[in-house]
Amino acid sequence: GSRGDRPSRNVKEIRMNAKPVVVGIDGSPAADVAIRWASAEAASLRTRLRLISAVPPGGSASETGDVVDKAVALARDLAPGVDLDPRIEHGRPSTTLVQASRDADLVVIGSRGLGLMVGALLGSTGLDLAANARCPVVVVRPDLGTEAGTRVVVGYDGSSAGQIALDFGLDYARRHDLAVRVVAAQPAGTELHRITEAELREAVHARGGHDAELIQITGHPAEHILRLAADADLIVLGARGRGGFTGMLIGSFSQTVLHHADCPVAIIPAAAIGG
Ligand SMILES: Nc1ncnc2c1ncn2[C@@H]1O[C@H](COP(=O)(O)OP(=O)(O)OP(=O)(O)O)[C@@H](O)[C@H]1O
Ligand SMILES: [Mg+2]
Repeated sequence: GSRGDRPSRNVKEIRMNAKPVVVGIDGSPAADVAIRWASAEAASLRTRLRLISAVPPGGSASETGDVVDKAVALARDLAPGVDLDPRIEHGRPSTTLVQASRDADLVVIGSRGLGLMVGALLGSTGLDLAANARCPVVVVRPDLGTEAGTRVVVGYDGSSAGQIALDFGLDYARRHDLAVRVVAAQPAGTELHRITEAELREAVHARGGHDAELIQITGHPAEHILRLAADADLIVLGARGRGGFTGMLIGSFSQTVLHHADCPVAIIPAAAIGG
């Protein structure tokens, strides 16, 4: 089955050949929210949930066992019908999770972990995964409110990652019965990579998004996306746009949104394209 399959109420009916949803766990509050988000998504996708705890060089395996036990208990509680696949892997968290992304539908992590860098809005794992993962990455915040958002906001720039972002956002919205808003923002003062209204409409309609709200706007893309995502359930973006500077791991636009969004952000890494 593809992402467009009709949703089923029976989460035990596992899709043939389905890849798991992977969640990175480290015992932090943000990782607990990631477990919550990932178990709901595994249920919706009718696939299993792989909980991965990475023991970095010099880390304690016994503490990790405790983290895994608590995570499994939480996931079992939240999504009783989902098959759980807990794993302890030895290696750096981001290396381990990038490796896991090769066999995953989706990798879910928290924006922060147990790191002590005060004031940082995003840990190193999120940045590394956004740059290098082989599948979409969802970054959730520890302070995720209880209020559910009403729409999915997709940033579209016509790039390959933008196309996948559109597919991902439309599929997620269908499964969760959410409205879709597609935003194509054009930085002021440049005609480079401008998308016409017709191109935007065609791309969205070709994917069945006839009800989607289309917004074409001039100005700073990240500012517009954040403003237009005030009541969003999820923001979906490509990690790199069409005009990316080589050398940057991910675009400055997606990095700004990752740092400042109030809701979960799904990033389509460049390495996820065509795989
Ligand atoms: N050891 C780990 N094993 C599995 N997943 C992890 C591990 N460490 C972090 N993660 C995942 O990554 C998310 C972000 O944590 P990260 O380590 O990037 O942030 P941090 O600890 O605040 O900062 P940093 O480690 O860069 O100083 C966590 O919420 C969790 O989902
Ligand atoms: Mg950490």
